[in-house]
Amino acid sequence: MQGDHAENKGGKREKFTILDARSVGGIIALGGTILGSARCPEFKDEAVQKKALKQLADRDISGLIVIGGNGSQAGAAALSRLGFPVVGLASTIDNDLYGSEITIGVDTALNVALESIDRLRVTARSLRRVFFVEVMGRDCGYLALHCGIIGGAEAVVIPEAETTPEEIAAELLAAHERGKRHAIVVVAEGAVYNATKLVNYFIENPEKLGCDVRATILGHVQRGGTPSAFDRMLATRFGAAAVECLTGGGVLIGLLHGRIAATPFSEVVSREKKLETRLLELASVLSI
Ligand code: F6P
Repeated sequence: MQGDHAENKGGKREKFTILDARSVGGIIALGGTILGSARCPEFKDEAVQKKALKQLADRDISGLIVIGGNGSQAGAAALSRLGFPVVGLASTIDNDLYGSEITIGVDTALNVALESIDRLRVTARSLRRVFFVEVMGRDCGYLALHCGIIGGAEAVVIPEAETTPEEIAAELLAAHERGKRHAIVVVAEGAVYNATKLVNYFIENPEKLGCDVRATILGHVQRGGTPSAFDRMLATRFGAAAVECLTGGGVLIGLLHGRIAATPFSEVVSREKKLETRLLELASVLSI
């Protein structure tokens, strides 16, 4: 099947490539994916799912391992419901997937964001500025909350605990009263008041803070890190467990209570992972 490109009825090319040990050599040190796979909104349609199953059957493929976050696992669960052996592998920097306390990519994204926050603090400190640093995470505040704690932020803004610009101003003025002359505020991209909105507010209302403000949006930089040691180990352990579970399928491989665990897709797609908002208190205590 190597390099095998067949045209389907719609004229789209189906690509199947056998990956042997040599062709995946060295990918443990690479971020992203060598597969070039991406989101496919049409996959929500059962007709498209059945088409995928037909393509797999035509190639004598008898099982699938799906690496990804909520969208990918919803697709994996759909194929599994149609009777195909599928195992999911918990992987997203957002860490919002039920069935794994930590997902592949989170640790690397945290390290990339942390390095950026440490670098931004140099200018914040030197020029006595307030930086609003926006991190990814879609609707989930995990990355922002954790970056806030490990980066020693003066304030954290996450969707799970919405904060108004006035409340942030009050926090920063209180920090100023305690002798702080610069500040870093870590903002989740999913918050109602994201970094751009907050900076615009403080530019339009200069009397609220009385200092120079800047917004830095880290964006896809966070997805471009060389995988951390933790992520390499996690992905390797998940991968080995996925192969072991492939015969039965129907589960997501993740980490629960520090151990590799398999959670049925029915639970993964119907339940929501809750953010440990208790950590907000810790962030607040540490910012004193
Ligand atoms: O789900 C991972 C993620 O990086 C989110 O944190 C972010 O909101 C989104 O993907 C970005 O998607 P895109 O690359 O399509 O802009």
